[in-house]
Amino acid sequence: MPPSASGSDVSPAAAAGVHPAASGYDLVAQQLIPGYASLALLSVALLAASPLASAQGASVLVAGCGTGAELLAARAHRPDWRLAALDPSASMLAIARSRLGDAADIDWRCQTVEQLSGAPAFDGALSVLVLQSLPDDGSKLAFLTALARSLRPGGQLVLIDLMKPERSPLQAQVEAAWLGFQRASGVRESSEALVQLAGGLHPIGLSRLTALVNAAGFSDPASIFQALDVQGFLLQRRD
Ligand SMILES: C[S@@+](CC[C@H](N)C(=O)[O-])C[C@H]1O[C@@H](n2cnc3c(N)ncnc32)[C@H](O)[C@@H]1O
Repeated sequence: MPPSASGSDVSPAAAAGVHPAASGYDLVAQQLIPGYASLALLSVALLAASPLASAQGASVLVAGCGTGAELLAARAHRPDWRLAALDPSASMLAIARSRLGDAADIDWRCQTVEQLSGAPAFDGALSVLVLQSLPDDGSKLAFLTALARSLRPGGQLVLIDLMKPERSPLQAQVEAAWLGFQRASGVRESSEALVQLAGGLHPIGLSRLTALVNAAGFSDPASIFQALDVQGFLLQRRD
């Protein structure tokens, strides 16, 4: 399985041997992840069309905001949204803050989603390339449960993540294509190094994801995007 962005301070920039400066993360993410450049805009557009977050001044959580890609897209296309930007990595959050500017009226929080407390406060949430970094030992369920609890009933979550592919005779071709995409995008690591990097990620299949999101309080995932093994889903918090 080819690698993708990691969910900790070991960013893909660091993982791929590129200095993890502000632009470094985003450049390497684009080289590693097919469709990365569209993910933020796509996730914002989907949430903006949802029943609750379409309202003027809706409250939106960006879970695992990293260096701020989704925040920038949200600010550009829904300047009325009240945004909370949450990430446990102080260094990622610092980059996001510098990109958004101090004037941006954003509720910055250096914490995990699981540390959220209080009544459901959000009309919608975005989680792009975060769940994949959590092991399936209760950590994924705790993350998804905290996200469901943070949403008002009917609130929606756009979840984009590296998925474990279903068994398919085409899988070897998909993996070769992914490495080819990364090479063509300028990644210079050896194939072995790229495959090793994926060891830190914990992708799951669709049936496991469905069981986890149902247990967390969401409806079944509706598929909205796929590029190789990177998939996007729309989830709605049950009433
Ligand atoms: C691969 S980055 C993705 C960042 C951004 N969403 C993007 O697509 O560019 C994953 C981010 O999730 C954050 N993260 C990891 N575990 C988290 C958790 N439990 N709650 C919230 N954020 C988390 C990491 O610190 C990291 O910044």
